[in-house]
Amino acid sequence: MKIIEVADYRALSKVASEIIIKQVQQKPNAVLGLATGGTPIGTYRYLVEDYQKNQTSYHKIHTINLDEYIGLNHEDSRSYSYYMNDHLFQDINIPPEQTILPNATNSDCQKESEKYEERIESLGGIDLQILGLGENGHIGFNEPGTSFASKTRVVKLTESTRNANARYFQSIDEVPTYAISMGIATIMKSKEIILLVSGKNKATILTQLLTSNITEELPASILKTHPNVTVIADKDALSLT
Ligand code: GLP
Repeated sequence: MKIIEVADYRALSKVASEIIIKQVQQKPNAVLGLATGGTPIGTYRYLVEDYQKNQTSYHKIHTINLDEYIGLNHEDSRSYSYYMNDHLFQDINIPPEQTILPNATNSDCQKESEKYEERIESLGGIDLQILGLGENGHIGFNEPGTSFASKTRVVKLTESTRNANARYFQSIDEVPTYAISMGIATIMKSKEIILLVSGKNKATILTQLLTSNITEELPASILKTHPNVTVIADKDALSLT
């Protein structure tokens, strides 16, 4: 894993956006794997700013998101579908049908997961995958203990993840318990991956990630075996290393 150390969240967002813009320029029909959570919001802001200034075009790009909560539809402001429209899709020229998230309101989420996997394959795989890091080391919603061979499927969220995400809901009781998440094997098939890590609350897990063996107890540790991973981390996240 290559590590890029940056001063702060703003710099992290800028560097990540530049990598994405370069990918879009080099391959105008690229498949981008996108993440949600607080961390990539600044990156998406820079993409929108660049689009407005330089008209970098997304009209042939496909995006595939990592995950979606089961039971929240795209009009629910806490769904990841809503988040993506709000932070990125509505402000760039990507056709809506090329923005793909798991349909977690489907009555058969297992079937939806299988279809999702096929959809990624049919697009030729993910060229550049953006990841955040959960405080427990998860990537996507692949919680500690997830098999490295896992594919897209229904997952149960741990209490620590529900707690970490409760800030987006009125109360912890409203945080869904299940989600559809891309699997670890699915993520690992991406040609290039960037992992964004920002803030003091990520310092402990980032230190563990950088020093640990490769273990399913720390899902992100598998990234060490991927040939093209860049970790972009700010000083706060690296403060314990
Ligand atoms: C959520 C998402 C992950 C994300 C993680 C970290 O659980 N499913 O994809 O990377 O949280 O979120 P944040 O960036 O808000 O710390």
